[in-house]
Amino acid sequence: MGLYNSVFAKFYDPFMKGFEKRIRKNRLELLKDVGGEVLEIGSGTGINFGLYNPGINLTAIEPSQAMIDVSTAKNCDCNKIRLLKTSITDPLLFNELKESSFDYILSTLVLCTIDRPEIAIKNYGKLLKPDGRLLVLEHIHSTKPLHKKLQNIANPFWKAFSEGCNLNRNTDQMLIQNGFVPVQSEYFVKTLRFVQGVYVNG
Ligand SMILES: C[S@@+](CC[C@H](N)C(=O)[O-])C[C@H]1O[C@@H](n2cnc3c(N)ncnc32)[C@H](O)[C@@H]1O
Repeated sequence: MGLYNSVFAKFYDPFMKGFEKRIRKNRLELLKDVGGEVLEIGSGTGINFGLYNPGINLTAIEPSQAMIDVSTAKNCDCNKIRLLKTSITDPLLFNELKESSFDYILSTLVLCTIDRPEIAIKNYGKLLKPDGRLLVLEHIHSTKPLHKKLQNIANPFWKAFSEGCNLNRNTDQMLIQNGFVPVQSEYFVKTLRFVQGVYVNG
């Protein structure tokens, strides 16, 4: 987490502004019924913090101190947040977070970036209560052959520029292969192909 990470965190919101306008409705839809104990993964600059219903107990994890600094500087007038500097794949994660303790886990634009997404997804499964729900808004690999190819070619450059984000992950399939079952899912394209879904432990 060096100088580039700090610059990336500082310019993340302005860089994403136009795109964020186009997916805000999807964030709101996903969060509309959320209550109880909630865990947000990779909360970044805190874009979701102001969108939660009042009265929830929110824990957020984020490994980048620069991102945490941007999110805490926003002083959002929202729920009290327990914000932890850690990674979802950290072997010590369960010292800080109890298994089967969350009603909801929110994962937005983050499974594209996490280093070992299969481990992350397994940990999502462990952290959710048995009837808990995983809420996902993630961009995924295109299904159009030409776009797919271009994304594969662009991926190493994009990944270096965007602090590890991959354009070509089949996150929707990865969730199912690692034990999640979609109870609601939709696909849409906003420059990138997205999955928006609600999943339960299978
Ligand atoms: C593209 S940003 C998305 C931020 C936010 N979730 C959103 O919806 O805008 C990806 C975030 O995931 C975080 N991240 C990367 N690897 C992670 C990991 N292993 N565990 C938790 N968060 C991680 C990054 O630091 C970054 O803040």
